[in-house]
Amino acid sequence: MNNRLIKKFFPIPTQTSLEDKLVILSINRFLSRKKFFEYLEIGSYLGGSLTPFLMNKKCKKVMSIDHRNQILDDERSEKFSYEKVSENMMIENLKNQKIDITRLRTYNGDIKNFKGFGKYDLVFIDGIHTDKNTFSDFLYSFDKLKKNSIIIFHDSVVIYKALVLINEFLKKNNHIFKIIKFKSSGITGVFLGNISKINISAKIYPTENFDEFIKNAEKSLLIQQLTNRVDIKFKISRFLKNKFPYKFIIKSKKKTIV
Ligand SMILES: C[S@@+](CC[C@H](N)C(=O)[O-])C[C@H]1O[C@@H](n2cnc3c(N)ncnc32)[C@H](O)[C@@H]1O
Repeated sequence: MNNRLIKKFFPIPTQTSLEDKLVILSINRFLSRKKFFEYLEIGSYLGGSLTPFLMNKKCKKVMSIDHRNQILDDERSEKFSYEKVSENMMIENLKNQKIDITRLRTYNGDIKNFKGFGKYDLVFIDGIHTDKNTFSDFLYSFDKLKKNSIIIFHDSVVIYKALVLINEFLKKNNHIFKIIKFKSSGITGVFLGNISKINISAKIYPTENFDEFIKNAEKSLLIQQLTNRVDIKFKISRFLKNKFPYKFIIKSKKKTIV
């Protein structure tokens, strides 16, 4: 059942996991209770995470913001090259799947320079995976959110510190909100206004304890950073002199071409 749904709604390759896709489908279904809704996505890559919303007639506007052809920094201490992934490739992918793109709008750039008007019911942040950029994407998209709305973040482990800061920012400014981590998925959601009062686990998708998640994310990210950047060399000369025999060497950042 799930596989059939996933194939139908995600016909284009995406960097989301099975659980992420199920969360996205559940939120899409939840928002369909409204007369209509509007979706903004930061980081669209090949268009794979846009398709459930483009296929949903209740979603009246799909805004894709993507600063194309960049090499991206990442809190895992590695680099990801999207230099060869263009907006045209995304549009061709969508057309090849015969997806209606009349409700799609695109902006090639960073949201901080985006001058478009309009307010959104759902924002998906999946651009540069650093805490600084995630926090910046959050601040700029926050101005574009409706009062009762949802903002979701991908790869929560990688940008967990940004999520902690966003939680503090919202508390300090007395916003009515709930921050939740979806179980076994990389997605964290901030539910604003009246939507924060619903039973998210029951109505949308099972959730896990946010504070526990943050504690585990810290350990998991540290392991990834060490694996990516630190080489350990055993020095026999030091060993023979009865000195600490290991030397830690910082490697340069690996670049993965996406
Ligand atoms: C992780 S991928 C997005 C994956 C996509 N959401 C999916 O599920 O397939 C990150 C995307 O962010 C884009 N990007 C790079 N810099 C950006 C920026 N400053 N603002 C928005 N998007 C950016 C890249 O071009 C790339 O397409």
